[in-house]
Amino acid sequence: MTTTDTAHPVTGDRERLLGMLFGFFPAQVLQTVARLDVAEHLAAGPLTATELAVRTGTDPDAQYRLLRAASVLGLVELTVDGTVSLTPDGALLRRGEPGSLGRLAMLFCGEKTWRSWGELAQSVRTGEPAWERVTGTSTFAAFDDDPELSATFTEAMAEGTRGAVPGVVASADLTGVATLADIGGGNGTLLAGILAAHPDLRGILFDSPSGLGDADEVLTAAGVADRCETAGGDFFTEVPTADAYVVKSVLHDWDDERCRRILAAVRAAIGDDGALFVVEPVLPREPGELADRQITLMSDLNMLVCTGGKERTSDEFAALFTASGFTLESVTACPPPTGYSVLRARPA
Ligand SMILES: C[S@@+](CC[C@H](N)C(=O)[O-])C[C@H]1O[C@@H](n2cnc3c(N)ncnc32)[C@H](O)[C@@H]1O
Repeated sequence: MTTTDTAHPVTGDRERLLGMLFGFFPAQVLQTVARLDVAEHLAAGPLTATELAVRTGTDPDAQYRLLRAASVLGLVELTVDGTVSLTPDGALLRRGEPGSLGRLAMLFCGEKTWRSWGELAQSVRTGEPAWERVTGTSTFAAFDDDPELSATFTEAMAEGTRGAVPGVVASADLTGVATLADIGGGNGTLLAGILAAHPDLRGILFDSPSGLGDADEVLTAAGVADRCETAGGDFFTEVPTADAYVVKSVLHDWDDERCRRILAAVRAAIGDDGALFVVEPVLPREPGELADRQITLMSDLNMLVCTGGKERTSDEFAALFTASGFTLESVTACPPPTGYSVLRARPA
């Protein structure tokens, strides 16, 4: 506890709160370095700040000020003679690198998400997402209308999913499954990883036509394109027939009513012996167990402001399954560092 010599003692941890308060400055430095493709430009080796400003199309003085801040954040190194080089942390902003998070930075700190978070208070007052009000269109419709944003979103989801693949592979028992459909599977990053780990398995990647993104390249690069078909459609209406289904990071985008519609579409397509694997973070029931779930809790607020969805407890998932013709069989936490669990359900 700290005190001042005034009549108003400071009892809280003011420094910690200041760190949180100014947290958005470094987040914007990160997304701007990613947006300007600084890591791509420096990948072949150091450049002078002047050369880099030409390549990024930026004002040299303003770019230097950005780089100076980025150097303190460990993204680049600056020398007194004005040379800029990439650090290992900065290299994590490069497209397609293992562990890359540049598109995540651009999505979550980009204009539409940013403006939606600026309306958090209004979403808390009304319970309504802000995205549609501030941008004029719903989240996924925005991706359909804007190919650049759609590509950033799809790659951001892939960046978030790449590290989760081994944990999901280890936690989902696919014994006896011949065909696995990934519903809302994006560009196939998860399904490609699952197929690579199960050489006899066939896959169906299902997403909206724009949401499939560069799926053909992803599946080909993983060497599984000959065992995987892609299908564009609307998961509120109909999904392809398969023995088993994986649905990762989809239900948290939606309110309960729309989750039930997605699950009902899966229930209509799945055989009575089929298996459904939902991959999502699962919130503990007890407030006392939330301390290490900060990312999931922030994601929950992100869903509140952006999509109208939410993160859920296992009881809430079980209720969704029951209402949609499934029974929750098990909840398996994926091995760290991913915060996902695999919820296995069977047709009721
Ligand atoms: C949060 S992303 C998850 C992507 C992927 N499963 C992952 O975990 O990386 C949600 C996915 O749902 C897809 N989606 C949204 N609305 C859809 C619809 N009506 N029909 C099919 N897919 C849809 C999006 O295109 C997106 O790929």
